[in-house]
Amino acid sequence: MADLYPVPPQAQASSPSRVTSLEAYASLCRAIAADPDAWWVAEARRRLAWADPPTRGLDGSFHDVVDSPVAWFADGRLDVTASCLDRHLATRGDKPAIVWEGDEPGTTRTLTYRELHAEVCRTANALAALGLRKGDRAILYMGMVPEAAIAMLACARLGAIHSVVFGGFSAEALRDRVLDCGAELVITQDEGRRGGRSIPLKATTDEALAGLTEVRHVLVLRHTGAEVGWQAGRDVWWHEAVAPAAPTHEGVICEAEDPLFILYTSGSTGRPKGLVHTRGGYLAWTSFTHELVFDLREDDVYACVADVGWITGHSYIVYGPLCNGATTLMFESTPLHPDPGRYWDLVERHGVTVFYTAPTAIRTLAAAGDHHVTAHDLSSLRVLGTVGEPINPEAWRWYHEVVGQGRCAVVDTWWQTETGGMMIAPLASATPTKPGSATLPLPTVQATIVDAQDRVLRGPGQGRLCLTEPWPGVARTVWGDHARYVATYFSQHPPWYFTGDGCRRDADGYHWITGRVDDVLNVSGHRIGTAEIEAALVTVDAVAEAAVVGFPHDVKGQGVMAFVVLQPGEQGGSTLEASLQQACRTGIGAHARVDRLQLVPGLPKTRSGKVMRRILRKVAEGDVSSLGDTSTLADPGVVDVILADAGLSR
Ligand code: PRX
Repeated sequence: MADLYPVPPQAQASSPSRVTSLEAYASLCRAIAADPDAWWVAEARRRLAWADPPTRGLDGSFHDVVDSPVAWFADGRLDVTASCLDRHLATRGDKPAIVWEGDEPGTTRTLTYRELHAEVCRTANALAALGLRKGDRAILYMGMVPEAAIAMLACARLGAIHSVVFGGFSAEALRDRVLDCGAELVITQDEGRRGGRSIPLKATTDEALAGLTEVRHVLVLRHTGAEVGWQAGRDVWWHEAVAPAAPTHEGVICEAEDPLFILYTSGSTGRPKGLVHTRGGYLAWTSFTHELVFDLREDDVYACVADVGWITGHSYIVYGPLCNGATTLMFESTPLHPDPGRYWDLVERHGVTVFYTAPTAIRTLAAAGDHHVTAHDLSSLRVLGTVGEPINPEAWRWYHEVVGQGRCAVVDTWWQTETGGMMIAPLASATPTKPGSATLPLPTVQATIVDAQDRVLRGPGQGRLCLTEPWPGVARTVWGDHARYVATYFSQHPPWYFTGDGCRRDADGYHWITGRVDDVLNVSGHRIGTAEIEAALVTVDAVAEAAVVGFPHDVKGQGVMAFVVLQPGEQGGSTLEASLQQACRTGIGAHARVDRLQLVPGLPKTRSGKVMRRILRKVAEGDVSSLGDTSTLADPGVVDVILADAGLSR
């Protein structure tokens, strides 16, 4: 087949004990399937440092998830930071664990495993002195600084539960999360830096916490040195608390199933949900997938340029790589600062071997011109990864040919906040690839495609992607609302986990993710619920109603289109538009923007009052040739006005 890319020689397996071919991949899948419990118990015991090694694999099943979450390695006990730090000291003490590159090119800092261990211990001691105990929640609202990873690990070492809130979120979004998880401690910094700009993290934290007495302390890292507001008694400087603390700390031993972190993510309805990941299974899954997919090697310089505020940063900047003893790069800036050659400058200066980014960045950089790439020596690269949204074949080919110079394996990795780690992805060392396809499910992953009538598709076909068997990294519940977890993921195609994604499988069994089939948008790799944007828009006084849909966008993957009904007597114009954008910024954050706005006299609704988004999606896509029957609408005339105003005809 013309479009099948073989594994390039440079990416072929690093050792015969690795997965070297598709046959070896298939035989690993069979070996696991023959006795998943035994295989995974052995794997988890080998991969992690346990205080009490587990003897049990999976407990429970998706059938019983209504009553109780599944559990993995339930009789095992561990301190996850012993796997990420302590056990590396003997063999990798002087190896760089975190290499940090700041916002300005060349501002770097390196922490060896020994140094990182000492910093995490100091921070754990400082947090303990502030009252953080096992099971307590701490919110981290930070930029991409090493202390973000240190704070996550310090919480983990105490058995506390961290919840990282992406630094782009608004005060309102931060406050919601603090309240939802009942955090008593917030860790932030004076300011973040990104793309030459400062982000007022402490000021936003102060706004978020105004009037909240539940948060007893805010630990503040001094990063830019900017003046910040200060609440005596509550606020504590990081350097005053952490620097004098002892560099040793005995990690708290937890149950494998104790929560490690909560990460909020958008769904199709309501407010963001706090997905709960636990300790043993999550760490085993991220470590396994990180090594297998990238064919990780001891001397790799591994760079994932995501943000720690998202799941990619948790799993593939911090936990997976550190558990594997890798050198992981943390990047504070953007791909465009100071110019579109920044990533490639980073690769050249640090000798990056594995590089992991999002399709939206690849498209942006491809549009900026090849000379930004070819100006740099990228000969160190071996594997190029993508994640977060479907990658279009043109962008894939550009990544492969221009960045990878045809020498590197490109791994398009499909997964979600809920899955903890990668689920469908090529193995760099073994899987021939096709541009735009995430290829094959990883060993243990049971992916099934069903049609709208819930029939399982065999062989090639397109439908909704479900995962039928539990894997160690699956999120166990939604914080404080197990019923919502069950309703969101297990009620559409019971007893299976429904991903919310559409998927096509071709004749070779390769998977092509077609995007969300629910009301979740994926804008520049950021997941946003249409309901969240609508809720923000209706806070504007002039707005009576709003409906939001996505449309295909060349760079962002999806753009946001809002259909807005104004209150009687109100008018559109630049003031209204500015208020709508401000409402999104205030309610959600700087990453939420309306790309296209259409004022409409009413929304197309069924007689029972449900907005027919299908129609609005077609309008947004500019293709209304197959609009279907609109006669059942409460007011069919509304559609004609919307079409006429959009310059479309059926
Ligand atoms: O629609 C899929 C898309 O991103 C969603 C998950 O978003 P989030 O939980 O924020 O996690 C992103 C990082 C793992 C999925 O439901 N998605 C993620 N990776 C891919 C993808 N779509 C297509 N191809 C991918 N490789």
